[in-house]
Amino acid sequence: MNPLLQTRNLAAGYGDFQALFCIDVSVRAGEIVALIGANGAGKSTFLNAIAGLVRPASGQILYKGEPIGGLPASRIVCKGIALVPEGRRLFSSLSVEENLLLGAYSGRPGRWDLDAVLGLFPALRERRHHAATALSGGQQQMVAIGRALMSNPELLMCDELSLGLAPVIVREIYAALPAIVAGGTSAIVVEQDVRLARQVSSRFYCLQEGHVRLEGDSASASDEAITEAYFGVHA
Ligand SMILES: Nc1ncnc2c1ncn2[C@@H]1O[C@H](COP(=O)(O)OP(=O)(O)O)[C@@H](O)[C@H]1O
Ligand SMILES: [Mg+2]
Repeated sequence: MNPLLQTRNLAAGYGDFQALFCIDVSVRAGEIVALIGANGAGKSTFLNAIAGLVRPASGQILYKGEPIGGLPASRIVCKGIALVPEGRRLFSSLSVEENLLLGAYSGRPGRWDLDAVLGLFPALRERRHHAATALSGGQQQMVAIGRALMSNPELLMCDELSLGLAPVIVREIYAALPAIVAGGTSAIVVEQDVRLARQVSSRFYCLQEGHVRLEGDSASASDEAITEAYFGVHA
């Protein structure tokens, strides 16, 4: 069976600066794949290239076998790929509910609507009319995930969900992931916490300076190999 998402030889960058080189990554339906790597390795650039926010310089992005590289971000959301961006990027003047409803603009049908998202994150229900910025960091992250789910994605891409959050809150947020993928949704999670990334995923890719240095099964990969791929040192 074809993977849901596949990149072949994907390269991308900013002006003269190349941030990604020859990236071959695939994600199967229903799978959670972790993308790990140090700060600056290219993780966000990869997700943003898939989401249509960074233009690929060369190579292919295939979604359900169809090339989508270079399509505008709005078209990519309509095809069923949603990004929870690094830093959450909520609309501060809008309420929780308004932020969530913005995620539904693609009009994709599916199981996620306002009520389903508030059921997934009950803390948001009683705060639905509050300004998004009045919420705690963890609750804001729930809004960002919920907003992405409102587009009823088949592929959910999460960029550093744990950034700036206390460990107990991070666990609470990641606890929602099984319910999200239970309906057949796939996920790519970018995560700096390698242990956490391995716990929540079935496979991982480790980026270093824009290259995939290692890929493997999250449960069985050796810590030494990951450390080497992550830091570029021989342990
Ligand atoms: N908007 C940008 N303009 C120029 N360079 C950028 C921009 N965004 C990221 N970079 C550079 O691209 C490289 C990869 O960054 P990024 O994808 O954000 O890494 P990560 O998410 O793994 O921390 C880094 O060297 C970073 O400085
Ligand atoms: Mg990043």
